[in-house]
Parts: sequence; C-alpha cells; structure tokens
Amino acid sequence: MKKLIISMLLPLLCFMLPATAGEGMWIPSLLEQMNEKEMRQMGFRLTAEDIYSINRSSLKDAVVLFGSGCTAGIISEEGLILTNHHCGYGQIQAHSSLEKDYLTNGFWAMRREEELPCKGLTVELLIRMEDVTGEVLAGITDKMTEAVRDSIVAVNQKKIIDRETKDSHYTGKITAFYYGNVYYLFITEVFKDVRLVGAPPGGIGKFGGDTDNWMWPRHTGDFSMFRIYAGKDNLPAEWSEENVPYKPKKSLTISMKGYEKEDFTFVFGYPGRTQQFIPSWAVSLVSEVENPVRIRLRGRRLDAINQFMAQDPLTRIQYAAKAAGIANGWKKWTGENNGLKRLGTVQNKREAEREFSTWVMGERNRKTTYQGLLGAFEAVYKKMTPVSLAYVYYTEAGLGIELVRLAGRFNKLIMLSEQGKAVDEELSRLISSIPDFYKNYNPSVDRAVMPYLLSEYATHTDQAYLPGVFAEIRKKYGTDYQRFTNDAFQESMLVSKEKLLDFLEHYKPSRHKKLLKDPFVRLAVSFSDTYREKIADELSGYRDITDSLQRVYVKALMEMSPGKRFYPDANLTLRVAYGQVMDYTPRDAVHYDYYTTLAGILEKEDPAVEDYAVDPRLKALYQARDFGKYADQRGMLRTCFIATNHTSGGNSGSPVFNADGQLIGINFDRNWEGTMSDINYDIRQCRNITLDVRYCLFVVDKVCGAGHLLNEMKLVY
Ligand code: ARG
Ligand code: ASP
Repeated sequence: MKKLIISMLLPLLCFMLPATAGEGMWIPSLLEQMNEKEMRQMGFRLTAEDIYSINRSSLKDAVVLFGSGCTAGIISEEGLILTNHHCGYGQIQAHSSLEKDYLTNGFWAMRREEELPCKGLTVELLIRMEDVTGEVLAGITDKMTEAVRDSIVAVNQKKIIDRETKDSHYTGKITAFYYGNVYYLFITEVFKDVRLVGAPPGGIGKFGGDTDNWMWPRHTGDFSMFRIYAGKDNLPAEWSEENVPYKPKKSLTISMKGYEKEDFTFVFGYPGRTQQFIPSWAVSLVSEVENPVRIRLRGRRLDAINQFMAQDPLTRIQYAAKAAGIANGWKKWTGENNGLKRLGTVQNKREAEREFSTWVMGERNRKTTYQGLLGAFEAVYKKMTPVSLAYVYYTEAGLGIELVRLAGRFNKLIMLSEQGKAVDEELSRLISSIPDFYKNYNPSVDRAVMPYLLSEYATHTDQAYLPGVFAEIRKKYGTDYQRFTNDAFQESMLVSKEKLLDFLEHYKPSRHKKLLKDPFVRLAVSFSDTYREKIADELSGYRDITDSLQRVYVKALMEMSPGKRFYPDANLTLRVAYGQVMDYTPRDAVHYDYYTTLAGILEKEDPAVEDYAVDPRLKALYQARDFGKYADQRGMLRTCFIATNHTSGGNSGSPVFNADGQLIGINFDRNWEGTMSDINYDIRQCRNITLDVRYCLFVVDKVCGAGHLLNEMKLVY
C-alpha cells in the first residue's frame, strides 16, 4: 500500500521507482528471487516452486501457448483445455456454415468422437527455461557492429539449441530479454492434434461484442474448450484417429469459492509485446503518428463491413472473425492514445530523460559511455517517421483491400514462371487454398472501401515510398479512384472464384503475363515491391539501431537505480503477473465495482441490437434464479471481475488464480481506461478483466447441457 501512495504522489518519477505491486510481468524461474516475498506479503499462500519447478510438477505444466497468440489452461487429466471464445473464434468460424452455424448457436461435443479436429492449431507446453546469456554472448565485444554481433549471437544460439534438443522430440528456442542484455533458452513440446470440444452460443461468448470490447463493466462469457490429443506414448503427434487424450503432468484445480475485493490473485500466461522502456520520441511516434492513421483507416473499413453484415446473414458469418480482428486493434489504439494523453506519458518520459542526462553527466565514465544515447534516440526516431508512416499505409490501406491480399498470393507463381521453373506444386497449393478465401468474401466490401484507401495511401505517403502503380493510375484516372475501382472490378478475373480457378487449372508459365495485367495483381505486385525494396530494409535498419540503443539504455537505467526490480518487456514468453482484485474510479465522481453479475446482462438486453441479444435459456435460468452451485454467497451469479494484474495481448485465455493457486477465472481483456498499459501501466486505472470460472461452468452445465465435462474436472468448494 505504501508503494501505491508513493507512486500516486510522484507520477512524474514513477518511471524511476520500483515497480508497484500490480505492475510487472515476471519471469517464472526468477520468482523466488525477485517476487516471492512480496507475493506472500500480499497474501499468496504457496511458494514460487509451486508455480514454476523443473524438479516436480508445478502450475507451469498446466499452462500452454494456444495457437500463436493466446494462452490456455489444462483443466482435466484428459487434456481438456480452457481458453477464450475469441481465441478459439477462428476455429469455431472455420467449422461454421449457414447450416451449422456454431458462431451463433454454439457447439458442444457430447462424446469424444464428436470433438472436431482443428487444421493448423497447435499448443505449446514449456518443459523448462534457462538463462543462457553467457553462452549466447560469448565472443561479443562492445566495439562490434550490430551486424557482426547478430551473426555471432545467431551461431551461438544454434549451437545451444542443437545441443539441448538433440535426440529428443523437444523444440528449442532462445529469446532476448531486456533488448538483448539477457537471453533465455525455452525447451518446449508442441502438440499438433488439438480438437474443438465446445463453445457457447455467440450471444454468450461474444455478449456485448465490439461495443463492450475493451470495456468495463463487462458481461462476456468469453470461453471455449479444446482437447489436446497425443500419440499412444503421450507424446505430440500429427492428427490421427489413433491418438488419445493427452495426460498432463499437472491439471488445474478449480475453486468454486470465489474472491472478494483486495484478494491476492495472479495470472500465468503469454503476454505478447509491451514497451515500458521506450523513450519519449518512440511514444510520440506511436501515439501521434501511427495510431491516428490506423484508427482512421480501420474506422472506415469497419463502417463498410458493419453495414454489409447488418444487411445480409451470410456476410455476417463471413466477416465475423475479420471484423472482430479489425475492430479490436482500432478500439485498443483509440483507448491507448486517450490513456497516454491523460497520463502525460510523453512529458513524463521527457522529465525522466532529463534526470537521466543529469545522472549521466555526473560521472566521467558514465559520460563517456552514455552521453550520446538520448540524442541518438531522438535522431533515429525523427529519421524513421516517414518510413514508419509508409509502412502503416502499406499494411492498413494497401493490404486493407482483400483482393490485393489475395493477389499477393500469386507472387511465388509469377516468380517461378519468370524463372522458367516448375510450377505444379505451387499451382496445386493455390488451387486448394483459394476456395477458403471466397468462402469468406463479399466483393461489396472492397468496392466500398477501395477508393478511400487508395486515395489516403497516395495522399499521405512520402514520395520516396509511394508504390509505382499510383503513377500509372494517375495517368489514366487522375485522382478518380472510384472510376479506377469500377474498372478494376470490371476487368479482374479475381472478382470471380470460377474464373480464377479456371485460369489456374489451365495455367501455363507463359500465361503469367496475363496474371500480371490483372489490376489487383498490379496493385499487389507494386505494393509489395515497394515494401521489399524501399520499406522493409530501411525500417529493419532503424529497428536494429533502436534495439541496440534500447539495450544500452535499459542497462544504464538499471545502473542508475540499483535497488529497483526491473521486469523485462513482454516477448510472448511465459510470465506471472500478480495483484489484487480491485475496483476503480475511471473519472471524477464515477466508481466501478469489481465484479458484474447476470443481472447486468438483463439490464443490457436489447433484442434489436445483435451485441445485446440475450440467449433465451440464459434468461429463463435468470428469471427462475436457478444458479445451482454456481452462485456466490449472496446467491448472485457473478460473470466477470477485475484486478490490478498487468497483462497484455496474448494473455487472453490465461488462467487467473487465487492465493492457493486454484483457478478462479480466465483472463480475457483490459478496461478502456487502462489500454495504455503496454506502454505505461498505472495502478489507479489499469485492470485486467477475468471471466469468473463459476459463470463459465454454469453456462457449460446449465445452459449448454454439457455438464458431463465437469466430471473430468477437479472442483473445490
Ligand atoms: N480485446 C480483447 C483482446 O484483445 C478481446 C478481443 C476479442 N473481442 C472482440 N469483440 N473483438 O484481444
Ligand atoms: N484480449 C487480449 C488478448 O487477446 C488481452 C489483452 O490485451 O488484455 O490477449
């Protein structure tokens, strides 16, 4: 509590102070050394060894990386895993059609045989992690160029990985921490047969939709269940009918006891990317240059998509996952910008940077090592602004046109044809993947947004990075992008699945010229050429520079505050965040309580608005107050709660634990006022949002009739 008060009194200095309880994503293998004492003072009743151990089973054996960017917890001895609805969304969507609309109606396998295979989905389990900094940096000196450093680091890393994974089925990877001051080796097991077990109806799993996304108070039943399958030897295996449910070293115990305000809680999962240590100029680039453009371009695309989704049920299914993805970033960046402004992050960082300079100038050695650092940051961020902006336009405007993205898939075919190489393999790959694109495509969306996106792209991109195709367009159309769009849709064979497949099925390498004449292929080729030739290298050159400056800067900051605990920025490796269940005050005179209940779902109900349509079964149970064993002590059914845990994108699906290491919920979001926490965490306003596990089980059991799954789980009362 004392720390909390200090940080409130001295917001200008928070950058320099020890991380407050709540802030930080900590390394599991270092908890004992860095956090255990504080965790126990806050109420934690286990030991660090219960969270991460390589000698015995620990919670880490029940937490997996789900797909490429979410987390899941293992909740049964038979490989059942619990993650978010929005994490399983792509898979649920892939199994859906107008006839079997799992997005809307939900899906539950009533028997094992009904569990649905998921193409391409993997889960990754951490076996162990190890600090390998010494070996990775062997032979490195301060005088080396970044390129030389990188190549030595790469060779050293490969040597370690080869040695540590030799003669095993394990996968190894090495990840940089603190911008390359520290390196960790991760030995993992990757499971490739993961099947969909169940998802609630959309009205529960996505309740509140994009309207409530990134917001508190929240009532989304954001969960889905999958099962890990393994070979008969319990090792990872490709999908096979012979595979059996995976037997984990550890599965989570589920608490039905709930939580109260100020209770200790922790989150164990895979946060993707945070940038707590960047200098003021980097924050300005994100908040003043990049975010506004992304917000504007995505806003326009969403307007169009939403309009077509509202008009047509097929479009609604086709664009559900795409719209959710586009909207998620759009809203996050909007909230992030508000938060950074409110906190005055840029000014606070400037202030901290002035103090840093004073510290540097205070001693001769420091002066020699660090004097030019901040100036170098300023210079490189200034130089990289135009190319960063060009990159944003390339991805958000150029690749915002779906047919341009489709056309981009022909790059390899064109290249092989030009070089006179065999094309058969590539052709059959294209032919088999193309129907999936059209399954989810409505050309009206592209038609509606393309003139705007092209015009924005052309108007705001520095000449040096403007794709050549714009000059061609200008010659014939001036700035009439509407007319260009009309003609493109008239001429292109990509507009029709049949035409395109017919062309590919009768393809000969000499016909690549016809492909190159297609307007969407022309756009795609020109955009990607410009990206490859002018943007990618320059940008990665700048990133090398900022990374190496960052490495020195973080090292200096650590020297400057020797007593301070530094947590490394998130990098999609397993972390522990801990804090307290806590309410908050978003603005003057407004108070948000720390949990929501089913009553709130009925308050929000609006049958006319899709996001707020309430499932009739849920409503009937509410009216009968039939909450069974899932109610809290006051007889209420709680839906979600908030806490001060520091989380980020990737933490979705992360198990949330009580002081005894029992599962009380799954993390799925943050609050609107706290979305700037990737850059600037603030304990007064930053909250992670967790789905109460009791609501989740209530839905499985009483709404969806899949109560048999609870027999696999360990519940404690
Ligand atoms: N904001 C949450 C997270 O970043 C949930 C996103 C999914 N939900 C949605 N309505 N788009 O990813
Ligand atoms: N919703 C995010 C996720 O998908 C979590 C967050 O950004 O707080 O990982």
